[in-house]
Amino acid sequence: MIETCASDFGPFDGRVWLNCAHQGAIPKVAARAAEEAVQWKIAPFPLTTERFTDVPLRLRAALGRLIGVPSDDVILANSASYGLHLMANGLPWRDGDEVLLMKGDFPSCVLPWMGLESRGVRVRFIEPRDRVIQPDELEAAITPATRLLCATWVHSLSGYAADLEGLGAVCRAHDVIFVANCSQAIGARPLSVEDVPVDALTCVGFKWLCGPYGTGFCWIRPDIRETLHYNKAYWLSMQTADDLGKENAVPEIRSGLGARKYDIFGTANFFNYKPWTASIEYILGQGVENIRDYDQALVSRFIAGLNRNVFKVLSPEEESDRRSTLVFISHRQRNRNQAVYEGLRDSGVYVAYRSGSLRIAPHLFNTESDIDRALEALNALTPA
Ligand SMILES: Cc1ncc(COP(=O)(O)O)c(C=O)c1O
Repeated sequence: MIETCASDFGPFDGRVWLNCAHQGAIPKVAARAAEEAVQWKIAPFPLTTERFTDVPLRLRAALGRLIGVPSDDVILANSASYGLHLMANGLPWRDGDEVLLMKGDFPSCVLPWMGLESRGVRVRFIEPRDRVIQPDELEAAITPATRLLCATWVHSLSGYAADLEGLGAVCRAHDVIFVANCSQAIGARPLSVEDVPVDALTCVGFKWLCGPYGTGFCWIRPDIRETLHYNKAYWLSMQTADDLGKENAVPEIRSGLGARKYDIFGTANFFNYKPWTASIEYILGQGVENIRDYDQALVSRFIAGLNRNVFKVLSPEEESDRRSTLVFISHRQRNRNQAVYEGLRDSGVYVAYRSGSLRIAPHLFNTESDIDRALEALNALTPA
């Protein structure tokens, strides 16, 4: 048996949640933090200026540790889309600039850039030969007009992981800004921004970081961040609530706020940020490398136990950088996938139905017996 921390989660009432790529479960420690935040609001005496300051401060520190950047460079958000919009709307575009995207990428990676066409920016799609863009495909697609590449690290609709380092190296060589959406990766794959040539990254908090829905963050390389033209003057970034007590206080635009300038409004989002901070601190305590190994062992167990007479594995099978924690399978009679998905759900095993296939996404709250339950349910639904 691999060592598990599943008892820190749940209870799942006898059901199996293998759909972290949609929503991660929050650990008990985060549930307790959420309950505490609710108490703060039932009788708001504890909602002090210190708490308005501390909640975002502690979250920023945890996120900084997670991706190996100074906490002051972390931008707090509510989604992955938030950071992508900051970049799309804030970069100083020139007429004729070109943005490269991956054909078939998750919509949140595509739509913010498409809206730039009215500003003279051209969006061009690379069609990958094998689900995600390879560095040589990027190299061939870049033109003198290319300013930016936006791509997901782990592709939600195929389970393939892109080669961040390879793509980033090509971008650097051509002076192209590389924006990575790491929503299906951070929390299940270690990442230190120092070691990878990315220029900006965004990530949701509610999948592999086991936070509540409506959480996310963004990091933008400080020199690129400084070039953004984006009018944002959130009063709580410029002053504190205590300043309201001063007589004749006049609001002033403060400079030198760094990444904080771009935080989403409502940075002391107690209900969401307090439990999310507890989740990230929990994940840091377990160690992302350990979690990666644990998750990958569950993925291997699932792939090894799958009845190949009935099912095909569509995502990478061998453990490698290309394999993620998103496993895509299909019944050999593809039109049976929807019925298999529903049958699994009816037997208490929750996976996702995506792009006509089944997606199984285990994380640290799952156990080997969850995987075995899923395999048994698949066998029961599809007798050989
Ligand atoms: C790769 C990827 N990016 C982003 C999202 C969600 O984006 P947002 O937080 O902007 O709604 C998802 C899934 O929900 C996803 O799979």
